[in-house]
Amino acid sequence: MKILVLGGSGLVGSRFLELTADYNTVAPTHEELDLLDFVHLESYLQRSDADIVLNFAAFTNVDEVEKEKDNKEGLVYKLNVKLPKYLAQNCSSLNKYLIHISTDYVFEGKKQTPYVESDVPNPVNWYGTTKLLGEDEVRDVSSEFLVVRPEMPYSAHFDRKLDIARVFLKMLKEGKEINGVSDQKITPTFVDTLIYGLLRLIEAKAGGIYHLASTDSTTPYDFAVMVAQKFGLDEKLVKPVAFEEYNKTRTAKRPQNSYLDVSKFEGEFGSGILKSVSESVDELKKQMG
Ligand SMILES: NC(=O)c1ccc[n+]([C@@H]2O[C@H](COP(=O)([O-])OP(=O)(O)OC[C@H]3O[C@@H](n4cnc5c(N)ncnc54)[C@H](OP(=O)(O)O)[C@@H]3O)[C@@H](O)[C@H]2O)c1
Repeated sequence: MKILVLGGSGLVGSRFLELTADYNTVAPTHEELDLLDFVHLESYLQRSDADIVLNFAAFTNVDEVEKEKDNKEGLVYKLNVKLPKYLAQNCSSLNKYLIHISTDYVFEGKKQTPYVESDVPNPVNWYGTTKLLGEDEVRDVSSEFLVVRPEMPYSAHFDRKLDIARVFLKMLKEGKEINGVSDQKITPTFVDTLIYGLLRLIEAKAGGIYHLASTDSTTPYDFAVMVAQKFGLDEKLVKPVAFEEYNKTRTAKRPQNSYLDVSKFEGEFGSGILKSVSESVDELKKQMG
């Protein structure tokens, strides 16, 4: 199998390429292949001998995305909606297996139990809306598709942007107070775990939608305290704050409890591949040294 990786310079894609160094992969850079140049993309796909296309590319800055709200001619819409549509159409006609990465932000976040794959999405911001439309485009083209929804992936190292774990670590190390939301349920995912789960799905040629996240949930407050404790930093810097209070000044609305249920994946592939929140932070610490 040969995997064409799109968005391989991003937080998740770059770690995917590190962990699959002994796989047959090809990952054109943005300069080599502008994914929004659909004419070039089509000829690239036609010439490619990859039988699998894995799409990590997206416009992911949730507040920046909101500035293009309802703009169907915008860059966000093109990348998050038109690109997956285009990929699905081409992969279907070229007989390539498409894996598209989506997000927990397709959900409204009002449930008091984790979201399962069959729950009805209802995004609260433009990022979630465009990601859901992207999923729909992939689904509409063919019955053979794989959509994977991760939540809050975090990595031991990625210089270009921070994630939930490394934001908290940076603040703790700088002695800064953290406003930890204490009434929000999250299932943050250590990026390696996400990738090992993804590889199991790819190897099984799985179809449909799968959630890949931590096996238990936490809150941003509890997560920050856990990070402080495991890294030997001052947990008293973490102060509880209400979801509504924390989010009232942000550009884009956030879903409160868009946490994910991973029992579909575990039912099919077994337990032990996906990890608990605590096991994941232990692994993060091991990798960060
Ligand atoms: N990060 C999260 O918290 C999170 C949470 C849930 C789901 N997800 C989903 O997981 C996936 C990966 O997220 P991520 O955080 O790894 O994304 P990311 O770090 O923002 O990376 C986005 C990737 O898309 C590429 N890209 C953007 N426009 C392009 C273009 N016109 N041509 C070629 N490449 C282009 C970027 O390349 P350049 O930077 O080189 O331009 C980069 O490699 C996305 O589908 C995202 O929606 C992410």
